[in-house]
Amino acid sequence: MAKPKVLVTWPYTFPEADKLLQTETEAFYHSEERPMTRQELMEAVTDKEGLLCMLFDRIDGEVLEAGPHLKVVSNLGVGLDNIDIEAATQRGVVITHTPGTLTEATADLAWALLMATARLIPQAHQFTREGRFIGLRYHIFLGKDLAGKTLGIYGMGRIGTAVARRALGFNMKIIYHNRRTNPEGERETGARYVSFQELLKESDFLVIVAPLTPETQGRFGMEEFRRMKKDAILINIGRGPIVKEKELVEALKEGLIWGAGLDVYEREPQVEKGLLELDRVVLTPHIGSATVETRSTMALVAAENLVRVLIGEKPHHSPNWDKVRG
Ligand code: DGY
Repeated sequence: MAKPKVLVTWPYTFPEADKLLQTETEAFYHSEERPMTRQELMEAVTDKEGLLCMLFDRIDGEVLEAGPHLKVVSNLGVGLDNIDIEAATQRGVVITHTPGTLTEATADLAWALLMATARLIPQAHQFTREGRFIGLRYHIFLGKDLAGKTLGIYGMGRIGTAVARRALGFNMKIIYHNRRTNPEGERETGARYVSFQELLKESDFLVIVAPLTPETQGRFGMEEFRRMKKDAILINIGRGPIVKEKELVEALKEGLIWGAGLDVYEREPQVEKGLLELDRVVLTPHIGSATVETRSTMALVAAENLVRVLIGEKPHHSPNWDKVRG
């Protein structure tokens, strides 16, 4: 029997995932190390039953229309803001993703960014590499203490809870704001639910972990920065468009907050120019889940999701399986 044709929008994933795809499907990989253009994507899906896509591929009604045989779109990642789920459901296409695979790695990165920003690690590293360390100086690279401070979490799902769990080791007070309360997360970490305004007012470190939705888009702008503590640090590992980047630059320049650590950007891969020029800013290129173990697991789960749907089995995680096949 002919194997189902699938499109993978990058030249490779990870070895175990690739092996599964090659065994169970007729896999076509995009040949270049760059995102596919919309035109390329629309042409390549015409005869495919499965699509394994990346977070930078925008899968909307038009792309789905171009692939009339598509049964499944498997996203390599947890966030689904790049996919029009409703359009897929209407066309009977199952959407899958990989929650749970990247929780710990992403929480680690939140802390790496938080500490790097609070203690000016990249700046101090650069200084040392440049041969400028000529002896201990008491007044350079003065950062911020963590112990006894308040960690605020915006978005208390799996990753938010894992971020909170790590704060216990630093003897911090934990508060959070979420669409709804998270009693299990509270029990596990002692975190306290607060209003959005309280979160802004009380956090010494405010970590954004929320997904991108119409409610979270642009949630942090000048008005919010004005309500934060002047020595607060903002960390964003959720999605870039939650923060109005130009306004963040202004807020940092005006001293409304002390510093910022960002892994995601409003117009990825573009980074607001002003951010590059500021001293108390640490920037990483969307590497929340970038560990060998985590990315391999994500790829394998994404490949398994794809194959499962193609053979009629329920995938590990899908926001619309029940509506499409239930
Ligand atoms: C995701 O999966 O949504 C992450 O942003 C990838 O690191």
